[in-house]
Amino acid sequence: MTQMKRLSIGILGSGKGSNCRAILERIRSGDLAAEARLVVSDVLDAPILDMAREFRVANTYLPPGRFRTRLEPEIEEQLVQTLRHAGVELVVLAGFMRVLHQPMLKAFPHRIINIHPSLLPKFPGLEAWKQALVAGETVTGCTVHYVDDRIDHGQILAQKEVKILPNESAESLHARIQVLEHELYPAVVAEFCKRYAEATQPDKGWSDN
Ligand code: GAR
Repeated sequence: MTQMKRLSIGILGSGKGSNCRAILERIRSGDLAAEARLVVSDVLDAPILDMAREFRVANTYLPPGRFRTRLEPEIEEQLVQTLRHAGVELVVLAGFMRVLHQPMLKAFPHRIINIHPSLLPKFPGLEAWKQALVAGETVTGCTVHYVDDRIDHGQILAQKEVKILPNESAESLHARIQVLEHELYPAVVAEFCKRYAEATQPDKGWSDN
């Protein structure tokens, strides 16, 4: 049987890394034709880095510089070089809490994706599930989208919905959204893998969208 050519991915995160785990588990079990080349975090003691070690994936801490919501331009340039050096072809943001700008967007056009715990364009930003509760929504969910230079903004690739239960707590809602995230994100990465594998066949190209 011919093997699908594997897509090299880099995962960026700032926190606990449960989405990273979902993707790495799918790779390990053999049903995602990707290779995780590198995990990068802007938080020195982020559990996502421990997770990379657990799965024996190369990992690195990127000191973010003096800004709170973005990387300093030189540091973002350094991130580009690090990812390129690792051979990364698709950048997967998994709880990476900084907005990316030109260095990354120019280096990886249509090759950076993000997951967000709301039905975008509703509730971009922090703790989106709490925003949905406060707004009195009856349905929310999660979204995977291409990344641009705005917060949780860019072409939507896939969404999953969840009904908000009466009197539901924020913790319960976030936990139920995360269950969906762990299905949706690997499924979207799998789509990229499929397109990538097809593109390696003669007369085909890896299309941009
Ligand atoms: C996820 O719920 C993800 O959707 C959210 O951060 C969490 C990371 O969890 N991302 C955003 O809010 C992006 N604006 P994880 O570290 O367990 O994957």
